Amino acid sequence: MKHYQVALLGFGTVGSGVYRVLSENGAQITHREGINISVKRILVRDFEQEPNLHLAPMELYTTSFDDIVNDPEIDIVAECMGGIEPARSFILRALGAGKTVVTSNKEVMSKHWPAFEQAAKSTGAGLYLEATVGGGIPILRTILDSMQANNISRVMGIINGTTNYILTQMTESGRSFEEALKEAQALGYAEANPTADVEGYDAMYKLSILSSMAFHAHMPIEVIYREGITKLTPADFETARLLGYTIKLLAIGKKAGKRIEVRVHPTMIPNTHPLASVRGVFNAIFLTGHAVDDIMLYGRGAGCMPTASAVVSDIVYACHHDQRHHYMTFVNEESISNEITLVCDFICIYSIRLKVADKPGTMAAIAAAFAEQGVSLKSVIQLGEPDGTSARITFITHAASEFAVRDSLKKIEALDCVSAVESVIRVEE
Ligand code: NDP
Ligand code: HSE
Repeated sequence: MKHYQVALLGFGTVGSGVYRVLSENGAQITHREGINISVKRILVRDFEQEPNLHLAPMELYTTSFDDIVNDPEIDIVAECMGGIEPARSFILRALGAGKTVVTSNKEVMSKHWPAFEQAAKSTGAGLYLEATVGGGIPILRTILDSMQANNISRVMGIINGTTNYILTQMTESGRSFEEALKEAQALGYAEANPTADVEGYDAMYKLSILSSMAFHAHMPIEVIYREGITKLTPADFETARLLGYTIKLLAIGKKAGKRIEVRVHPTMIPNTHPLASVRGVFNAIFLTGHAVDDIMLYGRGAGCMPTASAVVSDIVYACHHDQRHHYMTFVNEESISNEITLVCDFICIYSIRLKVADKPGTMAAIAAAFAEQGVSLKSVIQLGEPDGTSARITFITHAASEFAVRDSLKKIEALDCVSAVESVIRVEE
């Protein structure tokens, strides 16, 4: 039986979970898979400060990456540190030394994937990243190993648990963004600095990886339209409720022929859409393939054991493919391929809420500004304010060009009868 030795870089939430799964389930894995996997070293930053030191025998720990990269017995390095440096350098050095790398670090992968894949291919090492998207949900392997028959035309999902928890609270309890964020922080879902989650960076990193795999074309983060959830107010949720919609932070990738669009933003979806019922910290991802049609994967997108499940499955997969590693299939280029046309002028339905003067001619002036840009209106709800002189109007457009909507809003904002464009939220039917 072949024996594989693994080194863990980082022993926090994910790293300690990987150790636990391999310790608790190692015998089962050996029995089922016919391979033996053991942890040989664990890289920590500082013995004195490491809170998880009691979880493994002392002789496994080191504070020196050299002990790992120079050890010929170590086959696989599982990077669970996060951040860019030193994660990037350690991954490159491990691959350069012919060691397979498994990582949960979506930020470093989304920013440096082509360099990593080149380094891996040059030494024949493996490079696996299931845990970078959707935590425990086996989404990348599904694309790699189970969707080969398909041309994938759409990926759409909830891929950030923290924001989904906040949005669920805002929907169900009427909390403000600030209140829901505080609650998410108290429960340990949101970080003390929540920017990466609430401004959509985390979802953007994941969408870069997900859409690159789905569309077989590198989708760097720079080409992804990103908007977070910090500007959403209880009034947006009230509007969504009136219209039969739920607001979710969706990561969306669409491909039609050679045209691709990739975006992360708050989105209204009908309450009947399966993604509308994904509550709390759960994640769910929709894929549309030309042969299989729609599939949806649902599960825990974060957490110690779910994420460790993905990392360990990569380790097992890497062991089975050690003679010929299975690389992701997009053309390994830094920039977006010349074969692809990136679409920034999406065609979307919009929900637009304005605060206006409640007087003759207001509606006509606004409708004219939309009409001038070819934006067709599907429905309008006007609610008068208690002062009797102002009103809030929500317009739902027919599918319209993003640029045309932006141009009409510039004109609408400048109208005397409009005091504010309060919100613009895209709608997916
Ligand atoms: P943690 O902060 O819990 O753990 C990271 C660990 O790595 C810490 O113990 C940290 O030590 C250690 N570390 C950082 N830099 C070094 C270094 N230079 N040398 C040695 N040790 C180092 O993070 P997570 O486990 O939550 O996340 C790890 C990665 O997995 C991130 O990329 C994250 O985005 C990703 N991920 C996390 C998920 C989750 O549910 N937590 C889900 C999916 C992906 P110190 O505390 O001293 O800095
Ligand atoms: N911060 C991430 C989330 C962790 O909330 O989904 C998992 O990547």
